[in-house]
Amino acid sequence: MNVLLIGPPGSGKGTQGERLAKRLDLRHIAAGDLLRAEVEKGTPLGAKAREFMDRGELVPDDLMIDLLMPVVIAAGQDGGYLLDGFPRSVAQAHEARRLAEREGVGADAVIYLDAPRDELVERILSRAKVEGRTDDTPDVVRKRLEVFGEATAPLVDYYRGRGLLHVVDAARPADEVTAEILAALGLDADAIDA
Ligand code: AP5
Repeated sequence: MNVLLIGPPGSGKGTQGERLAKRLDLRHIAAGDLLRAEVEKGTPLGAKAREFMDRGELVPDDLMIDLLMPVVIAAGQDGGYLLDGFPRSVAQAHEARRLAEREGVGADAVIYLDAPRDELVERILSRAKVEGRTDDTPDVVRKRLEVFGEATAPLVDYYRGRGLLHVVDAARPADEVTAEILAALGLDADAIDA
């Protein structure tokens, strides 16, 4: 199974992505984590990406496609993927779909994690106190939310139109969110646990 997780900053993509990938035995691919690994390693891609990430803007599409798609295709051909944070614009979605379907590894379902802005800001600013991500400052968080509204939110209609979308209320405890996602995917949480 190939699943996309989309949602605003702080909606729980990373948290749910990790849990679901374990439960469903899928490869968890987190766009932000792959970018931060490039920054950490000091690669040219990492240096370029960091400029955008630190401003809360989207990293250019060609860099994202080059970084993500080989990993996505490999995972799709090896049991399936749980892809968190990519695509993040309709242009990325078109190109990712073209490349994935050519390899027979297109998305089977898209989960949209929905939560109110106040909850998102509170979660991110609490995380900032312990993790110190360079983009978790109030100004950059504001920008990330703005970019989400402009570039990423249109994906909701795009995937609804393709009949793949499941909207999940992500403003609840993480266990409840996981259970709702599994139900949306037509899976029985207890059966998977067993
Ligand atoms: P990325 O790392 O993906 O950041 P983001 O989308 O802003 O999302 P976050 O990591 O802040 O939140 P999340 O939704 O994963 O929630 P989490 O589980 O961490 O991307 C960073 C940057 O990289 C982007 O701004 C952009 O520059 C670039 N980038 C990435 N992908 C790109 C793309 N495709 N194209 C171009 N650029 C791209 O949870 C947040 C906090 O809340 C945690 O502390 C967690 O413990 C807590 N929490 C989670 N769930 C719950 C819950 N149910 N109840 C209470 N607390 C919860």
